[in-house]
Amino acid sequence: MNSFQLANESSPLSLTPNFILPEHKRPNLSQVTSLDSIPIIDLSYYDENNPSSLEVVHKISKACGEFGFFQIVNHGVPEQVCNNMMKAITSLFELPPEEREHLSSTDHTKNVRLVNFCLKVEGGEKVKMWSECFSHFWYPIDDIIHLLPEQIGTQYREAFTDYAKEIGSLVKRLLSLISIGLGLEEDFLLKKVGEQPRLRAQANFYPPCPDPELTMGLQEHTDFNAITVLLQSEISGLQVNKDGKWISIPCIPNAFVINLADQIEVLSNGRYKSVLHRAVTNTVHPRVSMAMFYGPNPNTSIGPIQELIDEEHPIKFRNYRFSEFVEEYYKPERTGKTVKENFKLEDK
Ligand code: OGA
Ligand code: NI
Repeated sequence: MNSFQLANESSPLSLTPNFILPEHKRPNLSQVTSLDSIPIIDLSYYDENNPSSLEVVHKISKACGEFGFFQIVNHGVPEQVCNNMMKAITSLFELPPEEREHLSSTDHTKNVRLVNFCLKVEGGEKVKMWSECFSHFWYPIDDIIHLLPEQIGTQYREAFTDYAKEIGSLVKRLLSLISIGLGLEEDFLLKKVGEQPRLRAQANFYPPCPDPELTMGLQEHTDFNAITVLLQSEISGLQVNKDGKWISIPCIPNAFVINLADQIEVLSNGRYKSVLHRAVTNTVHPRVSMAMFYGPNPNTSIGPIQELIDEEHPIKFRNYRFSEFVEEYYKPERTGKTVKENFKLEDK
């Protein structure tokens, strides 16, 4: 049985009914605003010996509390490394359909897979997202790279090896800035999530879509790891929820979009937010993005950090092992509720 249907399989593109969302799940694009946006933070000002660096820490901390999202510029990752990564992803999605189909799998435990995500709607029906996502682990990088199947090719392998090393060090820097912002020891979060971390990469491809109002590239979600680094091509499509409104994220050359994911929200006892976001499509341009998910080891115990619980900030989540959270995330019967809701403590 072949249930895999790629979004860009037919030519000319057509919206078959299995891509059409029920009315209340559609993106409602006319309501999206670009007036408000997430902060853009220049990391070149950060130098641990310079007292004005605290300004960068402060900006990040504010962004984490208000938006759960920010963009960074002058982050030190060479432009060439990012460009090579984007080129390799673009070529990957240009592989002939037979070869892409070969990589497809609905088994989320697979090390490497191509997936066409679905949204389960009322009545148990599944609506397909207008995207293809190629996902694999990225730690330890030198071992993983050899596990990528033949058809992935050397261009991707080489570009990814360089990219993963850069993003690994960038995330370490960010985790230390975020720790300082929370008033913790600089290496606190890195120690918590950086030991034998669970790292997955997801290259997303959104073909042009005949009717972006009826479909979604990626349904609204929060990321379930700790922190995500997203690189996007110069075509916008990412939208972030702020106080119930969708705001679109502009594409800035040589910037990364950083978002906090569920584990940081729990560790920070809700001071920092893991917010809903989604990807929408457009009629003209194909769009690619690369999400690097950085999460703790499955055995790590997660719960609000002691120092961040006090009378003013009563404990909001229960303690759990990260593997428990992952299991909950992949439960087939899971519906609308976000996973972190299941770990929330009742308000007293
Ligand atoms: C993701 C994600 C957004 C994008 O991969 O989790 O939110 O713009 N991607 O591709
Ligand atoms: Ni996401």
